[in-house]
Amino acid sequence: MLDFQYLCPTKIFFGRKSLQHLGAELSWLGRRVLFVYGQGSIKKTGLYDSVTDILMRHDIEYYELSGVQPNPRISQVRHGIDLCREYDLDGLIAVGGGSVIDTAKTIATGVYHKGDPWELFLLGDTSVKKALPLGTVLTFAGTGSEMNGNAVISNEETAEKLAIHHDLLRPKFSILDPSLTFTMSPSQTAAGVVDIFSHILEQYFSPTKQAFLQDRIAEGLLQTCIRYGPLVLAQPTQYEARAQLMWTSSVALNGLLGCGRMSDWATHGIEHAVSALYDVTHGVGLAILIPSWMEHVLMEETQWKFVEYAQNVWQIHGADSSRVAQKGIEKTREFFVQLGMPTTLREVGVQAHGLEKIAEKTVQRGEIGKFKKLGKHDVLAILKKAL
Ligand code: NZQ
Ligand code: ZN
Repeated sequence: MLDFQYLCPTKIFFGRKSLQHLGAELSWLGRRVLFVYGQGSIKKTGLYDSVTDILMRHDIEYYELSGVQPNPRISQVRHGIDLCREYDLDGLIAVGGGSVIDTAKTIATGVYHKGDPWELFLLGDTSVKKALPLGTVLTFAGTGSEMNGNAVISNEETAEKLAIHHDLLRPKFSILDPSLTFTMSPSQTAAGVVDIFSHILEQYFSPTKQAFLQDRIAEGLLQTCIRYGPLVLAQPTQYEARAQLMWTSSVALNGLLGCGRMSDWATHGIEHAVSALYDVTHGVGLAILIPSWMEHVLMEETQWKFVEYAQNVWQIHGADSSRVAQKGIEKTREFFVQLGMPTTLREVGVQAHGLEKIAEKTVQRGEIGKFKKLGKHDVLAILKKAL
């Protein structure tokens, strides 16, 4: 196990009536807050009315930043920063999925940054020095943003999608009511499950061999996705299935799994370049890329991990290790198909002539991946397999 530091200060309120805690927790955020939300789902479900009612009952002066899009844009962040500065706001409440929460996180720290907020992404994690307090009400299980310090934002002018990570960006509190996810469409639900699954894999496929505890936790989380993903598609309002997935999503990316070992994140690197250029849903891009990444990095020196994965997650056994490893990849692909995910980049509008640009963007800051380091040539090979 490698040395590590771990801080996860987000207070979680989990359960059917957890929104009732919002009022008391608002004291974290001050008297004047920015209320950030998406393109209307919370108005349809009535959650908007519930949240504004709580804000008003607690005498919170609030200003709204609405219309946050999936693959959220830096222009929306700039607008939010302007509002915070103009009205001298004390904190933020984000109600929605990862896109809404990531926008709120970037506004929270962008307020303190003198230059344009995109500079934070170019300068990297150390550029985060301070942030306004943030609370979230989660409506979408997938990214884990509700319990982590990551923010992923797209720049529509440069067609880039970049991430920053800092403990200061972790929400003060997050309200997780699984029944708020009942209204996610089947395709959104499936994309969320793939995103959760991928976060676990990115940390499970690690070059650090001594991670027994982390690996067993990861395998439990992967099995939870395999068990409850198809179930929730068949029964969208099954509370227990939604609850299992929601908590798996938070635990998968709150930093716990990555403690004491290196993580890979190559597939996310490639997917972020794909979605920056083609505005693809994050989980869909991952479902297409993961099996191709696996096939590309499976070789003699990495086979041990694929065998462990196939045996412990998919219960595939046999004397022929290379066959067992291969079977694990096939099972992964079948699982994504079972969830209704596309299997090729062509299905999401990517053509062969676009691959070179995706590969260039992926490695523009250098090689990616820790389990297996990948240069442009490797990324291109993965993209070709996935086409
Ligand atoms: O905009 P609204 O109307 O709210 O609709 C949203 C949106 O269209 C809808 N939705 C959310 N909750 C719903 C709902 N519809 C019905 N019922 C509900 N309860 O779902 C759509 C997608 O929402 P979005 O927030 O974009 O999804 P997700 O949570 O998957 O976030 C994706 C973004 O997060 C980034 C991704 O790259 C992508 O930009 N990621 C963030 C990470 C993080 N902060 O840790 C890590 C991830 O790896 C990922 O990169
Ligand atoms: Zn992800």
